[in-house]
Amino acid sequence: MKYSAPHIITEGAISYELGVLKGREIQYDFDKILVYLDAKGKLLFGKKFRVYREDREILYKLSLYFIRDRDRCKQFGMDLDKGLLLSGPVGCGKTSLMKLFKCIVPHQRPYSVIPSRNIVFGFNHLGYKIIGDYGNTQSFCFDDLGVEPEGVHFGKECNVMGEILLSRYELFLDHKIRTHATTNLNAQELESRYGSRVRSRMRELFNLVGFKAGSKDKRC
Ligand SMILES: Nc1ncnc2c1ncn2[C@@H]1O[C@H](COP(=O)(O)OP(=O)(O)OP(=O)(O)O)[C@@H](O)[C@H]1O
Ligand SMILES: [Mg+2]
Repeated sequence: MKYSAPHIITEGAISYELGVLKGREIQYDFDKILVYLDAKGKLLFGKKFRVYREDREILYKLSLYFIRDRDRCKQFGMDLDKGLLLSGPVGCGKTSLMKLFKCIVPHQRPYSVIPSRNIVFGFNHLGYKIIGDYGNTQSFCFDDLGVEPEGVHFGKECNVMGEILLSRYELFLDHKIRTHATTNLNAQELESRYGSRVRSRMRELFNLVGFKAGSKDKRC
């Protein structure tokens, strides 16, 4: 019964109602989602966190995706069966948003946000086992994809995240398992990092959702 009302989320003494129940369907209210994101963001990342006016559009798109509003997602060119590739300049808030948005849908299967470079460090230490570990049916968000170093295990080089993306593509085809990622790179840069085979599969694996090129660095 825990998720009989998944649109009502309790944080400490406060309950946030993200919408209303109409029959068996939840009608989410975007303004209420923003109130929750603001509050939960402060809890997770500190009191400096806030919802920036210039981010409203991307927050709207991500909300539609996470609440699984198929029709509106389609209008924005997003396919609910695919994962998200959240792109944007350094410090605009990609990692924070991927950690935050899963909190608005506690009834959905969670994903772990893992820095891509940590996966490569794991490979350097333990070898190909690591690639197998990320080819399982769990959901992941590979953070900071494209800027991780090349893997080297016992002198043998490996494009670790490229290999993992190939495995995740197979999982997507065979089991509809979604994979998410964040990146600073654009499509061309990803292609030159991973090659056209991986890039072509990434187009099928991910919906591309981008911050505007001039989005400010929130670390400043
Ligand atoms: N909406 C926000 N309000 C205030 N601070 C924020 C907001 N979003 C992110 N931050 C802060 O800005 C910094 C950068 O955020 P984050 O790491 O999510 O960005 P990023 O886009 O993933 O950066 P990078 O490209 O370097 O990986 C963090 O310290 C984070 O806590
Ligand atoms: Mg990041």
